[in-house]
Amino acid sequence: MTALITASVLLFLILIHLGQLYPRNYMNNFGCEECKLKENNIFSKPGAPVYQCMGCCFSRAYPTPLRSKKTMLVPKNITSEATCCVAKEFKQVLVNDIKLVNHTDCHCSTCYYHKS
Ligand SMILES: *[C@@H]1O[C@H](CO)[C@@H](O)[C@H](O)[C@H]1NC(C)=O
Ligand SMILES: *[C@@H]1O[C@H](CO)[C@@H](O)[C@H](O)[C@H]1NC(C)=O
Repeated sequence: MTALITASVLLFLILIHLGQLYPRNYMNNFGCEECKLKENNIFSKPGAPVYQCMGCCFSRAYPTPLRSKKTMLVPKNITSEATCCVAKEFKQVLVNDIKLVNHTDCHCSTCYYHKS
């Protein structure tokens, strides 16, 4: 029992040291499932499901290290790093004369856009 507590405290200290405690972006990750293919209910038809990548990937924000702050044109106090759930492979399909992309594989990768 004592060993477990000691281990927890140690882990806690390590996490703080790495700056891993601050960083979790709960706003982004809250209620988010892992990145995977999900059926698109609007365009899917029986026998012809259309899939899209949805979910959350690693995302964190932390105070900008002083070193990199000096190299920034516009110094920001908080640096954020994120990857997004995007399609690794997809096929273009036509459903009701609407061009859609049917995702076939997902992965966490560079975000094409930024929320903030
Ligand atoms: C989308 O891809 C899935 C799996 O690759 C396939 O089963 C499905 O038929 C495709 N949907 C359409 C509309 O082509
Ligand atoms: C960043 O921090 C500095 C000092 O802590 C403060 O003066 C500045 O207003 C902050 N900038 C932003 C964008 O929050």
